[in-house]
Amino acid sequence: MAGKIPQNFIDDLLNRTDIVDVINQRVPLKKAGREYQACCPFHTEKTPSFTVSPAKQFYHCFGCGAHGTAIGFLMDYDRLSFPEAIEELAAMQGLEIPSEIAFEQGPDHRPIYEMLEKVAAWYRQQLREHPEAKRATDYLQQRGLSAEIAATFQLGFAPPGWDNVLRRFGPDQRSRKILSDAGLINQTDDRTYDRLRDRIIFPIRDGRGRVIGFGGRLLGEGNPAQGSASAATGRKQGTAPKYLNSPETPVFHKGRELYGLYEARQAHRQFEQILVVEGYMDVVALAQFDIRNAVATLGTATTAEHLNKLYRASNEVVFCFDGDRAGRAAAWKALQTALPLMKDGRQARFLFLPEGEDPDTLVRKIGTQAFLEEIRHAQPLSEFLFARLESETDMDSIDGRARLAELARPLLGQLPQGTFRAMMEQALEQRIGVAVDIPPPASPEAPPRPARKAQAQTPGTMPPMRRAVALLLQYPEMATTPLPEGWDEIRLPGTDVLHDLHQRICAQPQTNSAALVEATEDPRLRGHLARLAVADLAVQDDAAEQFCGILQRLIEQQRAEKRRELLKNASPSSMSEEEKQRLRELYRGS
Ligand code: UTP
Ligand code: MN
Repeated sequence: MAGKIPQNFIDDLLNRTDIVDVINQRVPLKKAGREYQACCPFHTEKTPSFTVSPAKQFYHCFGCGAHGTAIGFLMDYDRLSFPEAIEELAAMQGLEIPSEIAFEQGPDHRPIYEMLEKVAAWYRQQLREHPEAKRATDYLQQRGLSAEIAATFQLGFAPPGWDNVLRRFGPDQRSRKILSDAGLINQTDDRTYDRLRDRIIFPIRDGRGRVIGFGGRLLGEGNPAQGSASAATGRKQGTAPKYLNSPETPVFHKGRELYGLYEARQAHRQFEQILVVEGYMDVVALAQFDIRNAVATLGTATTAEHLNKLYRASNEVVFCFDGDRAGRAAAWKALQTALPLMKDGRQARFLFLPEGEDPDTLVRKIGTQAFLEEIRHAQPLSEFLFARLESETDMDSIDGRARLAELARPLLGQLPQGTFRAMMEQALEQRIGVAVDIPPPASPEAPPRPARKAQAQTPGTMPPMRRAVALLLQYPEMATTPLPEGWDEIRLPGTDVLHDLHQRICAQPQTNSAALVEATEDPRLRGHLARLAVADLAVQDDAAEQFCGILQRLIEQQRAEKRRELLKNASPSSMSEEEKQRLRELYRGS
């Protein structure tokens, strides 16, 4: 977790920054009265509803509800983390971030970054100039890599020898300390030597393109015991592992970084989806075949931190795994990590590759189009989940179905509230034939995003009625689509607001969110609506579907409550004919 950046530094930075400049550099703005406008970069639209207010130093899209400060804009548009956005703004202002808060609280890591950068450049140069570089380039060529893609990924060559880096970059005590902090040299009691020797070098870059570590591959097959998914055995003592990565350092954390994410972002501003593969070579090979949205974990399982990063970059993550047992086990682990993060609008899918193939070998065999076709047919999370659980149970017996419920309960219980969870619960009910009580999500999901996000209610945790109001407010055009029967009979706290909004929109179908807010007389309600109008609902293009889904659930909830009420004190003999009739209707209606 990044260190805390003092609020007064952020305030000062925002005071000096003009949000109009920041956005205009990325999305050309047109002046419209006192504000600026453009077509919204966060959703597709033909008429501009994205406005930037120089007075408020705030942007807001009336179409999709995106809003925020210059920091928020950089986070969402450039896909930066909070500290990265701060650094970017500071750099634009020529402001020096006090070293104790640069990136991470604590020691100043700039010497490490600088060293990594210098050594990376030197490795690259060695791939061109070292007397033995031909072995390396031959190897790359034999693997089918083009010079162009090697340059894009800035591949390099760590030449043979124990102390090339050490001698060149560590002439004194201080520089040797930096080399060691950067993970470039190993130190034992009696020896100090280069960590990476006689290997192809894959520099690993962070979100801003800074080199933070390296992966190094042997130029040959290496130890035959190390097949795919055998990273652990590769680390057995006394063998030369096929890949050797930088160790954990102050700037490199395997559980957080993804190889290729920076390069993918360079190629695409927006991703429809992002592929998670296992190896460096897979990322590079796919890129060569023009599939530039692949990233690799660094020999570790996918962590929640990885997934948070990925879902900031794209709403759909496709995991590519080997079809063998190890691959399926890894996929199942990834699924479990993903469950609590599956907010509405996010998707996860799983592609299982044919035995013995990895993305690198497969794309070279079948080509780009066929590979993309495979991805299109990847299994959605829901399918993978139920298929796996059903394979463990006998669905023909009552016991088996009960067992399915028991297996599914804790898994579905991890899903955040929302339409996806409701659908999964429904899918489970359909499979076993009765309703299952699913535990509520444990906590309002992953670590909160800093600053503006901290106040915003995450879409998954907003109570359904409030979410319904927010959806209608942000997508007023939904009022004219058919709504579930009986929705106007819902009487729960908040329904009056919903009904009132609905009536106002029907009376004036061309209205928009801002007008609806402004026309609300009660100042407290107006403030409440103003917040909902800009709440981040993480809606794709299924607002109406979500809205109807929520209404449907509220209708059912209300029916269930009425049933309970009628049944509470009633024995059949004491019930009036009318009450009995009502109860029958309530059962039929649900
Ligand atoms: P693979 O063995 O599947 O890698 O390991 P690959 O990319 O397909 O390798 P080649 O070059 O085509 O043979 C997947 C990932 O696991 C980590 C690396 O990050 C590698 O990319 N790994 C693997 C290690 O860290 N050490 C190893 O010894 C092997
Ligand atoms: Mn491979």
